[in-house]
Amino acid sequence: MLQQPAAKYHAFPPVRLADRQWPNNVICRAPMWMSTDLRDGNQSLFEPMDATRKMRLFHSLCAIGFKEIEVAFPSASQTDFDFVRGLIEGRHIPDDVTIEVLTQAREHLIRRTMESLRGARRAIVHVYNATSKPFREFVFGMSRQEVIDMAVSSVRLVRELAEAQPDTEWVLEYSPETFTATELDFALEVCDQVTAAWGATPDNKVILNLPTTVEVTTPNVYADQIEWMHRHLARRDSIILSLHPHNDRGTAVAAAELGLMAGADRVEGCLFGNGERTGNVDLVTLALNLYTQGISPNLDFSDINAVARTVESCTQLPIHPRHPYVGDLVFTAFSGSHQDAIRKGFSVQQPGSLWSVPYLPIDPADLGRSYDSVIRVNSQSGKGGVAWLLENEYGIVLPRRLQVEFSGVVQALADRVGGEVSADDIWQLFSETYLADAAALAYVEHQLFDHAGAQGIRLGLAVDGKAQRLTGEGNGPIDAAVHALRAIGIDLQVRSYEERSIGSSVEGGNACACAFVEVSARGVSGDRYGVGIDSNIVTASIRALLSAARRVGRQSAAAQAA
Ligand code: KIV
Ligand code: ZN
Repeated sequence: MLQQPAAKYHAFPPVRLADRQWPNNVICRAPMWMSTDLRDGNQSLFEPMDATRKMRLFHSLCAIGFKEIEVAFPSASQTDFDFVRGLIEGRHIPDDVTIEVLTQAREHLIRRTMESLRGARRAIVHVYNATSKPFREFVFGMSRQEVIDMAVSSVRLVRELAEAQPDTEWVLEYSPETFTATELDFALEVCDQVTAAWGATPDNKVILNLPTTVEVTTPNVYADQIEWMHRHLARRDSIILSLHPHNDRGTAVAAAELGLMAGADRVEGCLFGNGERTGNVDLVTLALNLYTQGISPNLDFSDINAVARTVESCTQLPIHPRHPYVGDLVFTAFSGSHQDAIRKGFSVQQPGSLWSVPYLPIDPADLGRSYDSVIRVNSQSGKGGVAWLLENEYGIVLPRRLQVEFSGVVQALADRVGGEVSADDIWQLFSETYLADAAALAYVEHQLFDHAGAQGIRLGLAVDGKAQRLTGEGNGPIDAAVHALRAIGIDLQVRSYEERSIGSSVEGGNACACAFVEVSARGVSGDRYGVGIDSNIVTASIRALLSAARRVGRQSAAAQAA
C-alpha cells in the first residue's frame, strides 16, 4: 500500500500569470532543433558510444537534417575530447551544421572545452550551472549572488577565449540547470546577466536554454514558466529561447509543444527519447506531430526504420514496439472493428487528398513503412483483417458473406494457437477449407454439351475414392452440375454465384478465375460457400460447387453425429 502522499509530496506552486497567452496560440512552424543524442543521450547509456558509433550517429543526424548537434562533453572525458577533435580535423562537419559542446561553469573545464573546439568553423559553447534552491543550498552551499557570479564569470571567460580564436564563429548557450525548480525571478536575473555579459545583440544572439532537468510539473506549468520568461527577459530580440524537456512524468512531448506555444524558438532532445532516466524529449515524435498537423518539420524521417535501426545499434537500446510513429506495432490493428474501419478508409482514400484513414494518424508510407503489418490477425480480429490479408497477399477479394463465414474458421484457429495468425497460415486454412479436393468428393473432369436448348454436362468425379460419371442439364453449367449431383444424393440450391479473376500470387503464377458459390441444402442450417480456382472459368465454377457440397456434407455429418 502506498503511503499517504500528502505527507511526503506537495504540488508544485502555480505560476502567477493571469493573462497567459499560450493556450490561444498554435504552433505554425518548426522550431530550431538541437540534437543532444551524442551528449545527453550518450551520457545516459550503460556503455557510452565509442568513437565509431558516435561518428555513425553523427552522420545519421546530419542526414536527417539537424543543423545543430551537441556532440560531446569534452572536458568530461578524453573520448569526448578526442571525438570533437576528430570531427574537426577529419572535416566531418557539413558546412550547414554547427557542433555544440557542453561545459560546466568552471574555469578549467571551460578552458579545456574551448581547446577542443580549436579550428571549428562555427561552434556553440553550452555553459550551465544549477540555479534551484536545493542545489544552491545543499549541493553547492552558494548564495544567489554567488550562483550569478559563477554564470557571469564563466560567460566572460568564454567570451575572452573566443576572442582569442577569431577564426571560429562562436555562439554562446547558457542553461540555468534545474530551471523548472528555480524561482522565476531568480532564473530571470541569472539569464539577463548572462545576456549582458555575452553582449548579445540581434545579430549575435545568445541561446538561453530553460531545461526541465527533472520534470516536476504538469506541462502547462512549464508553458507558464516559459511564457513568463519570454515576456520578462531583457533583450528578447537578442535571445534564442530554447527548451530542454526531460520526461520524468512522461509529458516531455507535451511540455515541448506547450513551451513552443508559449514563445520558445528552439528545442533540444534526442531521437526516440533517449536520455537520462526517462529520457530527453523525443524529437521524432515532436517532428512528426508537426508533420501530421500539416507543418514541415524540416527533418527527414521518410525512412524511419533505417533511423531506428541506426539508433538502436549505436545506443544498444531497443525501441519499444509501441513507441509513437516508429514502434513495430504502431501501425498494426488486431481488433476486428479497427481493421474493418482501416480497410474502408483505405478503399476511399484518394492519392493527393487529405489523409483520413481511421486509426492511422499518419500514412505509414510517408515514413517508408509498408502496409504489410497494418492488419494482423489474432483471436481479437474480425473479418476485415482476414479479408485484407487474403486480398493483399493472395489477390483474392472475398464476397462479404464469405468474409464472415471464413473469419469464423480463422478465429477458431487463432483461439487454438492462442497467438497471431500469419497471412500464410490464413491462406493454408483457406485452401484446406475451400479448395482442397477430398476423397469423399473430388473433381476429375467435365464436358459440356447442348441438348434441346438446355445446357448439358457430363461430370467425372471421385466419390469416396470411386470414379463416378454423372449427367445433368440446366440453364447453365452450374445449374446442370447441380442437377447432375442429385444422382448421388447431393441436393443443393444455389443462393449466389460470383467469379473474379485473381492475380499471379496464387496457383503458380498465371492469372486465373476464382468462383464463389453460395449454397443451401435441406437439413443443413444456414448457407455455405464453396470456392474453386482454375484457369478455366467453368471448371472453377464446378470446383466451387463441389467445394460447397463438401462443406455442406461436413456440416450435415456433424449434425447427424451430434
Ligand atoms: O537536463 C539538463 O538540465 C541538462 C543541462 C546540462 C542543460 O542537460
Ligand atoms: Zn538534459
